Amino acid sequence: MTTLCSHRLVLRPLSEDDLPSLVAWRNDPEVSRYQGWVLPYTLEMARSLLGEGLDLGADGWVQRAISSPTGELLGDLGMCTEGAQAEVGITLRPGAQRQGYAAEAMRTLLGHAFGPLGVRRVFASIDPRNAPVARLLERSGFRLEARLERSYLHRGAWVDEDVYAVLRDG
Ligand SMILES: CC(C)(COP(=O)(O)OP(=O)(O)OC[C@H]1O[C@@H](n2cnc3c(N)ncnc32)[C@H](O)[C@@H]1OP(=O)(O)O)[C@@H](O)C(=O)NCCC(=O)NCCS
Repeated sequence: MTTLCSHRLVLRPLSEDDLPSLVAWRNDPEVSRYQGWVLPYTLEMARSLLGEGLDLGADGWVQRAISSPTGELLGDLGMCTEGAQAEVGITLRPGAQRQGYAAEAMRTLLGHAFGPLGVRRVFASIDPRNAPVARLLERSGFRLEARLERSYLHRGAWVDEDVYAVLRDG
């Protein structure tokens, strides 16, 4: 089980105690607007995240809680590794946004992925209308690689998808 630490954050495995808060923010309309999870998001769905791999770097999705060093839960992030590539997704709860926590968490995750894990390409797939995550990715060194038009059906509407990626060797 990999727990990663940075100046203000601890990225640790999710626990059962985290789930009620996670369910609350995943059902928040502002937080969920551009996200792919099914609504209403239930405790059972959240519980399935606990079983999603424990070791960062093992193939498949791994979830981490983003917490303060004193244990305050700020959000969650996921990384899906497949060979030398990894996909990432990140959420901060309302009240924890706009303070640089997401950038700090992403920097920490990228350092681990490109360092000990030996990943060569990290990417994120986002709804182009999701401006905060586009800013986060660009600030974190990702470049827009592709715009897929009307790529998938999201809550009854066909939406575009932007693929951002950052390469280990630039
Ligand atoms: C995507 C998401 C995590 C980005 O969070 P965020 O709070 O915008 O990003 P950060 O935590 O890095 O904060 C950056 C912002 O805080 C500001 N900020 C304030 N204090 C700061 C500090 N001490 N250090 C750094 N930035 C600070 C920055 O200027 C920046 O504002 P800007 O984007 O207006 O320029 C958040 O919008 C979210 O959870 N969205 C809902 C879920 C979602 O759609 N996720 C995307 C799935 S891939």
